[in-house]
Parts: sequence; structure tokens; C-alpha cells
Amino acid sequence: MTAERILILDFGSQFTQLIARRVREAKVYCEIHPPTRSIAWVREWAPSGIILSGGPNSVYGDAAPTADRALLDMAPVLGICYGMQLIAQLSGASVLSAGRREYGRAEVCVTEPDALFSGFEEGECLQAWMSHGDHVESPPDGFVVTAKSGTNPVTAFRHVTRPIYGVQFHPEVAHTPRGTELIRNFLFRICGVHPDWTPGSFVDREVTRIRELVGDARVICGLSGGVDSSVAAALVHRAIGDQLTCIFVDTGLLRLNEREQVERTFRAHMGVDLVTVDASSDFLGALAGVEDPEKKRKIIGHTFIDVFEAAAVNVGDNVRFLVQGTLYPDVIESFSPTGGASVTIKTHHNVGGLKSDMKFALIEPLRELFKDEVRNVGRELGLPEEMVGRHPFPGPGLAIRILGDVTTEKLAVLRKADAVYLEEIRAAGLYDVIWQAFAVLLPIRSVGVMGDERTYENVLALRAVTSSDGMTADWYPFPYDVLGRISNRIMNEIRGINRVAYDVSSKPPATIEWE
Ligand code: XMP
Repeated sequence: MTAERILILDFGSQFTQLIARRVREAKVYCEIHPPTRSIAWVREWAPSGIILSGGPNSVYGDAAPTADRALLDMAPVLGICYGMQLIAQLSGASVLSAGRREYGRAEVCVTEPDALFSGFEEGECLQAWMSHGDHVESPPDGFVVTAKSGTNPVTAFRHVTRPIYGVQFHPEVAHTPRGTELIRNFLFRICGVHPDWTPGSFVDREVTRIRELVGDARVICGLSGGVDSSVAAALVHRAIGDQLTCIFVDTGLLRLNEREQVERTFRAHMGVDLVTVDASSDFLGALAGVEDPEKKRKIIGHTFIDVFEAAAVNVGDNVRFLVQGTLYPDVIESFSPTGGASVTIKTHHNVGGLKSDMKFALIEPLRELFKDEVRNVGRELGLPEEMVGRHPFPGPGLAIRILGDVTTEKLAVLRKADAVYLEEIRAAGLYDVIWQAFAVLLPIRSVGVMGDERTYENVLALRAVTSSDGMTADWYPFPYDVLGRISNRIMNEIRGINRVAYDVSSKPPATIEWE
């Protein structure tokens, strides 16, 4: 297996993750790191190429993140926007702030087709996304201009003899339609790496690593039924087989047939040692009468940890590791080059905060992966599509989709309505184009009529959004006939609901869950 990898230094651009996506889509492994990494660290990491991201600062501003000049000699370098300006500054050229702001779509014309613009003719123009106030006035000594735009004569440059390239625009965004070609040119023509980072190679590497790490110890994993913990468990099981015990806590807040599906897949199909704990009465008891969403989350989090720890104790001696399905976006969010403090909007719930003296080392085999890569690894491991392609489901489960207090009766109504909703979405062939779809039971009753009878029953809200990472989302424009079928079925088949509403709020300002 090759050790080819690309280092992306993050100067704070909102698009940095997209750069990583594009590199990985080209089947080349990459990681995002803060620009404060030392030169010694970078040398040790041994990148096959380095990409300097964009960023909100000015290179000459106070406290602007910078880089060591030595970086430019360590591996081929591509600077994007701020990254390009940094290359210019480190190489002795001036970067100016006035005059040539460009935001949005611009036409960029290639003046000299070099390796980066391979596939373009001289004079050929491409549509590109710009977002900069500063610009490079003239190329540094030893650099030549390779592209210009109407307002900016130095839109791209390269060093004459060394593999150092800069572009003022953002090749990583969809608004630069041919940007992928440039990134691929950088990877394959300039860095000379190979497209061999695949789900299969990832699994092989992780299996070896986990085996060495674990030795003969025992490992536990909390399964939630969601994609991330399922794939993490399947991967660790591939590596160490019976040394892994999975614990599935039935909180009573799960969707219809969820427990059976987890048991079928993991115990029956994959032969995983699976402990199921039915703790629904603990959860429902602790939640009785509680209406406040943050309180509900805290109660569920604490109850979960109690139940999980009690089950973990029974797994036996020599349990030294805990598997977690942490994903790459969670890891990247924890370091921000601009140091911005993140705000707790909701208390997220996972197995991370074990509270007692149980000391486990963590195994987080997915911490390098994006969600869709996790899905591909799941497919590689033979997990069924119904599990791998699942919409995200929050840890606190249906409790945050019942507004107000949670009862067994409300759970039963919501579970049925949610199942009908998802069944119709699947039947319409829309499940995979939607990021997440679910029903929410509102604590509001309205008047209806059924036969000759007046009814006074609950309102159900339906939510369906498209998104790429859950951070922002748009409501999904269902065809009317699909919405009609869903609403008919829910009102006819489910007692307790006499009105269905569709949520047309995007995130922001709404969130995806209602709570
Ligand atoms: P919001 O509602 O904040 O949700 O827009 C963003 C995404 O996160 C999911 N979510 C959770 N996932 N534990 C999780 O694992 C949680 O506590 C949790 N709360 C929200 C939500 O379903 C959406 O996909």
C-alpha cells in the first residue's frame, strides 16, 4: 500500500472541507490540518503534495495565520485564494487590498496552459467562483502568470522551475464547474500520486491497525442502529471477530422494528456477539412528565450511560477499548484556525461521556472519513443497503420528535406515522435523494371530522430536508401527489392524528429536528 497523501493546511475558509472532498473523490488520501503545524511535523508527515486553503484574513493583517517558507520546498504546493496570496507574500511579492474585489462568478482565461491547466487551450476561459478582497499585484520573482480575469491580471501563477502553483479562485466549489480537472491535474500531473485510496484499501489498512492495537484485549461498542456505529462495529468485527462485544440499548425511543433490524443484521447475519438491553422502562420512567427539550436530552444521555456501563461491566475482564463512530467533520470542527468558539446549540448525545471510573481507550476507525465514505466502507463490509443508506437518526431518538412530554401512547402513534411516511417515500423512489425525513408529533390538538363525528386530535408535522452535512438544509419539495398519498394514509390508518402539516423551513434559521 502506498503512503501517498495530500496535506491540506486550513487557513479558515468555509470551503476547506470541500477541498478534502474533491481530493478524496479523486481516490487520493488527504487530511486537513491547522497552519500552526511545525515544519518538522510536516516533514515527518511526508505529504506528497500540499494545498493551502483560502481564508477570511488578509495576509498582512495582524495575527493573520501564516506559513514557513520552507513549506514551499517540501512538496508540490497549490495555494487557493488566501493560499495563493500567502505564496506570493512568502516569495516577496506584494498583496494589495484595494481596488479589485471579486465576489461570485467570474470568467477566468488561461494565458499559459501549464500542468495545472492541462486540458485547457491558451486563451480558453472557464467559469470560476471568486471570493476575495485582496489580490496579488504582480507575480513574485521566478513566477509567471498563467490565468487572468477581467478585473484581475494575476488570477493564477506558477513558479518557473519548481512545482508551486496558485489560483485566486476556488476550484473546489461546484460554481467552478471545471475546478475538479484542476485539482486532478495537481494531484496526478504535479504531485504524481495514484488514485488508489478506495474503501477496500481503507478496510485493509484499518483491519491491520486495529489488530495490532488491540492485541488480545476485549473491545466493546455501543450500537445505535445508525450508519456510523454500525459501520464502525462491522469494521472492528472484521478485524478482531469474537473479541468484540456490541451493546445495543433499546431506549424505547426507537423507530418501528429498529431493534429487530439491528439484531438481525449483527447477530444473525454477521455473527457479532451482541448484547441487547431492554431499558425502555428506565427511559420512559425518567422522562415522565418532562417537557423541556434540553432536560429530555440530559436525562436520556445520563440514563444511557448508566445502562451502557452496567451492561459493559458484564462483558467480562480485559475490556480495554471502546469503539466510537466519530466522523471526520467532528474531528475537524474541534480545531478552528481562527479560534472561533463554537456554541452549544443542543446537547448532543453519544457514548463519549462515560462518567464513572471505567477507563477505555477509544477506537475511532472512521475519524478520517466523511459520511458518504463511511457508507461506502459499510457496503465494502457487506452491510445491507437498508442500514448503510439510512437517514441520520438522533441519539435521543423519538423523544425529541414528540414535543412536550413523552408517553408510551404518543410513541406508538409517532412510530406508526413515521413508518408510513418513510414507506411512501421509499415507494416513490425518493428516499436516497432526501438527507433526512421524519414525522414530529405536536402537542397541539385541532378539530376534525370523521364520518359524522367531530374529532379533537393531534397534529403531525412532516419534515424532509436535503443537505450535504446536516449543517445547513433545505426543505424538500415533494411532488404534490406524493404528499397527498402520505397524508391520506396517515389520516386514514393512524388513530390519534387528524391533521398533517408539512414543514417548509430551511436551516438556518430553523434546525432540522423540532425538539
Ligand atoms: P439539527 O436539529 O441541529 O440537527 O439541525 C442536525 C443533525 O444532527 C442530528 N442530531 C443528532 N445526532 N445525536 C446525534 O447523533 C443527537 O443528539 C442529535 N441531535 C440532532 C439531526 O437528526 C440532524 O441530522
